[in-house]
Amino acid sequence: MKSSQIRTLWNQFRTEKNHKTAKPVSLVAPSEDKTVLFNVAGMQPLVPYLSGKPHPNGDRIYNIQKCIRTNDIEDIGDERHLSMFEMMGNRSLGDYFKKESLIRSWEFLTNEKYLNLDPNKIGCSVFWWYEKDGEVIIPYDQEAHDTLLSLGMNPKHIKAIPMFHGEKCDNFWWPAGAIWPCGPCAEFHYDRGDDYGPNDWNIGINDRFIEIWNNVFMEFYKDEKGEYAALSQQNVDTGMGMERLTMVLQEAETIFETDLFFSSISLVENFTSTSYPALKKNESLMSEVELAVTKSYRIILDHVRASIFLLSDGVVPSNEGRWYVLRRLIRRAWFHLNKLHADHNEKELHNFIHDFTNHIFELFDKQYSWIDQSDTQHKEEIAHRLLQEIDKFLHTLQKGEKQLKKTIQWITSDTLSGDDVFLLYDTFGFPVELTQEIAQDAWIKVDILWYEKAMSAAKKKAKSSSKDKFTRGVDRAKYLEGVQPTEFIWYDTLESLNPTILKQFQLDDGQRIMVFDRTPFYATWWWQTGDNGTLELDDGTLYTITNVIKYSGVFLHFVE
Ligand code: ALA
Repeated sequence: MKSSQIRTLWNQFRTEKNHKTAKPVSLVAPSEDKTVLFNVAGMQPLVPYLSGKPHPNGDRIYNIQKCIRTNDIEDIGDERHLSMFEMMGNRSLGDYFKKESLIRSWEFLTNEKYLNLDPNKIGCSVFWWYEKDGEVIIPYDQEAHDTLLSLGMNPKHIKAIPMFHGEKCDNFWWPAGAIWPCGPCAEFHYDRGDDYGPNDWNIGINDRFIEIWNNVFMEFYKDEKGEYAALSQQNVDTGMGMERLTMVLQEAETIFETDLFFSSISLVENFTSTSYPALKKNESLMSEVELAVTKSYRIILDHVRASIFLLSDGVVPSNEGRWYVLRRLIRRAWFHLNKLHADHNEKELHNFIHDFTNHIFELFDKQYSWIDQSDTQHKEEIAHRLLQEIDKFLHTLQKGEKQLKKTIQWITSDTLSGDDVFLLYDTFGFPVELTQEIAQDAWIKVDILWYEKAMSAAKKKAKSSSKDKFTRGVDRAKYLEGVQPTEFIWYDTLESLNPTILKQFQLDDGQRIMVFDRTPFYATWWWQTGDNGTLELDDGTLYTITNVIKYSGVFLHFVE
């Protein structure tokens, strides 16, 4: 089934079920939302409507929303992760709830009028209970379990999964970075077959089973004390990854071998004259070189696509916040294009970037505002910005390469020091992978461990500069308005049990800050550094408090 057909069926299905479409919004989170840089899910713009505010399009809505999750950038290169992806989702704002949501999801997945997937290959998670101090706060989701059974799902395919399930899977959802509406999930998974792992239906852990559709039952919100309270209405928020669904329906090995990426692959192949390695079922059968080329391909395909979308939404590459995310995407894509030995001249590069931009506009024509195939000027602007950023990066690389070669020439040992590598990165923006490659060609080792130490110290410094900005007063009054001074209990105890969270927020660089009603942590004061320590939340999540500062009697804990 073509991806365009999936879109059509989704529109048809939701219209038949009396849903109205909500126009997809920009990838850039609205400026009043300080918790995220980008829209990370289709529901992000709907938060205000989950507690009763009427939505102009009614209480049953759906769309396909472009989203960006930058925490996944490092994962790109495997078969299922992207930085930018499309989320097909329906939402009930206080209208239908769990039962109808699951029944309709099953219908769309398995009915021959729609996706016609084999029901024997589908499984689903249900929510395992959550308890605190021996008291069940959120019970086992028996209703979801019973509904799935009544639909004919094999009982062995239904898995009770707790809030946090290993590193890979959460079975509870709330919008990124906020104390906001939240709720248990039921996540539909699809069985990719014996080639991908044991048939144990260990969903969320075993990669044989791929998550295709999350149904979230948003009936709680986490209040400022960290307690779960009932929302004024029961909502449903679902999200189905367009690319993963296409992969399953096109029986592709990965999201990249679908019609969403085929033409982009040809463009990269033409430009680099390196072919996309023939896909073998089991990646362990690929040579090291094939694996590396495959990874570079996937990074390029994802990053260039995401960059075009970000540029189309008005983001420009720069050194901070969301602008830096874009810069990083473009530079990383360029670095991997080079790894594929893009032996180009300026004209070829110009054509490649224009063709790629044109292709993305063609593929997504009018599905999102600012993606309009006939808007030649906008396309030109985007291609121009991409080329401009690549050009800047090329200068950086040239300078960095000169410096690196000089360092290698004068080196007296067989190892390039971590400080040298860091200097190249910090001063010239020279990617460490490139340093490693050039050093390797000269038979020189690289002290990566030391480099990583220098890098993490630099990150800390960058964080503390955001702290300095905060202490200097940027938006401080707004964040702390109405917050009571903190009770300082260090004289009596070094541990504070069950403190109340009075406020939590994130600075623009992602630094998270928490304020409690009382604290045993000493704050930074003139020459004295603030305390470090640990914070354990009721659900068992551990955080590190890296610093504490005090402002007008309020202790601000910097949390990681
Ligand atoms: N908002 C839910 C998610 O992103 C559907 O998984």
